[in-house]
Amino acid sequence: MTVAITGGAGYIGAMLADELLAAGRPVRVLDSLLHGQEDIAAELEGKGAEVIRADVRDADARRRLVDGAEAVVHLAAIVGDPACAKDPALSEEVNVEGSRLLVQDARAAGVSRFVFASTCSNYGRMDDPTVPIDETGKLAPVSLYAEQKVGIERMLLDGGGANGLAPTCLRFATVYGVGRRMRFDLTVNEFTRDLWAGRHLEVFGELFWRPYIHVADAARAVRTVLEAPGEKVAGRVFNAGHSDENYRKLDLVELITGTLGRGDVGYVSRDEDPRDYKVSFERIRSELGFVPEMRVPTGIEEIVGALEGERFGDPFDGRYSNI
Ligand SMILES: NC(=O)c1ccc[n+]([C@@H]2O[C@H](COP(=O)([O-])OP(=O)(O)OC[C@H]3O[C@@H](n4cnc5c(N)ncnc54)[C@H](O)[C@@H]3O)[C@@H](O)[C@H]2O)c1
Repeated sequence: MTVAITGGAGYIGAMLADELLAAGRPVRVLDSLLHGQEDIAAELEGKGAEVIRADVRDADARRRLVDGAEAVVHLAAIVGDPACAKDPALSEEVNVEGSRLLVQDARAAGVSRFVFASTCSNYGRMDDPTVPIDETGKLAPVSLYAEQKVGIERMLLDGGGANGLAPTCLRFATVYGVGRRMRFDLTVNEFTRDLWAGRHLEVFGELFWRPYIHVADAARAVRTVLEAPGEKVAGRVFNAGHSDENYRKLDLVELITGTLGRGDVGYVSRDEDPRDYKVSFERIRSELGFVPEMRVPTGIEEIVGALEGERFGDPFDGRYSNI
């Protein structure tokens, strides 16, 4: 019943590995530790996980990962619009080609479930962002990162289901909250850190909507899929988040400054961030019974508490960012 996780030492992955280990499931992780997460890898080993420190492009490592595994959760990637834009060739190799080869190997090894980490960024800019979009809505990716995710989803859903791999695509909302591998390059986390540190925050596109999910809930969403009856999830796409957790950046800033009691914020009216989407998470709620436990306001308090407790050393350290 081994679960093989690519990117298992990452922001979502380390929380997922912990969650599955605590539930008594054997866990095998493949991660290149791109952001220097040797401490996390060692901790996971201490808890009983097998950790393969390797690149998803390494054929031997991929085969070791999938050998005898019941399920594969594919999280490893060059993550985010800026990181993909910075090195398009690398992101193509890791995200697109790496996923294709992993799917091939998983299929050959007889893996029976494949969960792919996709993103609500696939919806891009909606015509009417006030009406929540669901999984049947039009995909309009506006970045290379999201285009790659859309392409991988297609590759999985067009061919995978028919070949016994039973793929599920989870389109995560933007993740926030304190994780084992912290990321401060994500909106809620970044805004909270910057305002807590007394820095001036410039906000672009403050009226644009976006959905959010706590990192622990993102891990729970994956576990929910792994534990659901196969026929409910095979060949399916689920948005992962909560329908009440769509916010504009302006709302986030108000919540954070309200929590801190201060904040130096400027709004820039340039149309910098073309992603504007409000998402419905009814499918995952009604079909799988998944409802996130955390809410953004509580998550902000959690981040402030961790910053106050000096949990991250220097929260501006480059290892907390994918950019
Ligand atoms: N965080 C979000 O807001 C969010 C939202 C939607 C989807 N996702 C998706 O979820 C997944 C995990 O994202 P995350 O936020 O945990 O990011 P992350 O960067 O913390 O995790 C990615 C992990 O992959 C590893 N990795 C990178 N390149 C690799 C390679 N070539 N071989 C092996 N390992 C490699 C990194 O070391 C890291 O541990 C990604 O696929 C991402 O696209 C994240």
